[in-house]
Amino acid sequence: MKSGYCDGNLLTALREARRVLVLTGAGVSAESGVPTFRDSLVGLWERYDPAELATPEAFRRDGALVWGWYEWRRMRVMKARPNPAHLAIADMADRVPSMTLVTQNVDDLHERAGSRNVVHLHGNLAAPYCERCKRPYELPPAAPDLPEGGVCIEPPRCAGCSGLVRPGVVWFGEDLPQAAWQAARDAAARADVFLSIGTSSVVQPAASLIGIAVGAGAVTIQVNPNPTPLEGLVSHTLKGPAGTVLPELLRAWGPGARG
Ligand code: OAD
Repeated sequence: MKSGYCDGNLLTALREARRVLVLTGAGVSAESGVPTFRDSLVGLWERYDPAELATPEAFRRDGALVWGWYEWRRMRVMKARPNPAHLAIADMADRVPSMTLVTQNVDDLHERAGSRNVVHLHGNLAAPYCERCKRPYELPPAAPDLPEGGVCIEPPRCAGCSGLVRPGVVWFGEDLPQAAWQAARDAAARADVFLSIGTSSVVQPAASLIGIAVGAGAVTIQVNPNPTPLEGLVSHTLKGPAGTVLPELLRAWGPGARG
């Protein structure tokens, strides 16, 4: 095997896997230029922790600050391209009989890389809605053109009830979309291989999925350049950026039973 990242047991588990669950986090989009939530913020937001901005309280307190932050992230996503990690994850789905891709990311980079039926646990940046009547708000098609240092922007008003429009993401303290959470739990309970890629594994309830998979006997794999609470608990740790590790893993895997 060419790769120093993966051993024979890991490759056997992948080649024999029937049901794979891939859970991704912000680290998968980092190499596309979308900052993770652990990167320190710059410019207008440098004195804020992202976890403070991603709350209903922050939006109520300073809607223009929070809306401006999400518009800036939406701009970064619209200008970004899927990276080799997104492409490798899309490719993986063709190698196993059944793969469920569950993401905590609110971008569409997995879909743009070719992944289908992505389960979004934390919503979608491109789907804001009225916080009062829940009516979807239609965003202009062009990417926002904002200064890199950030800017406060008053949130728009709903065309139906004049309520405040909020980002279509799940904030701390809010429930996950029920269907997405159920699909993720079901996939974890059935998985024989669970890959945790580019997530700090500290945000619940997403971080609890791996426990469900372990309980069902799954082989667990983590891909991350940095330590997380999963280190030492997973069956295999592949240390490094996902955009390097995953293509390497696929090369070592070979064409696979279906490839
Ligand atoms: P985090 O920002 O918490 O963690 C990103 C993880 O990606 C870290 O463990 C990094 O070490 C890792 N990482 C960085 N670059 C990487 C690379 N090139 N390849 C692989 N890994 C890399 O992001 P999440 O775990 O996704 O929720 O955070 C979970 C949730 O917390 C987010 O969905 C968001 C956040 O607050 C809400 O907004 C509700």
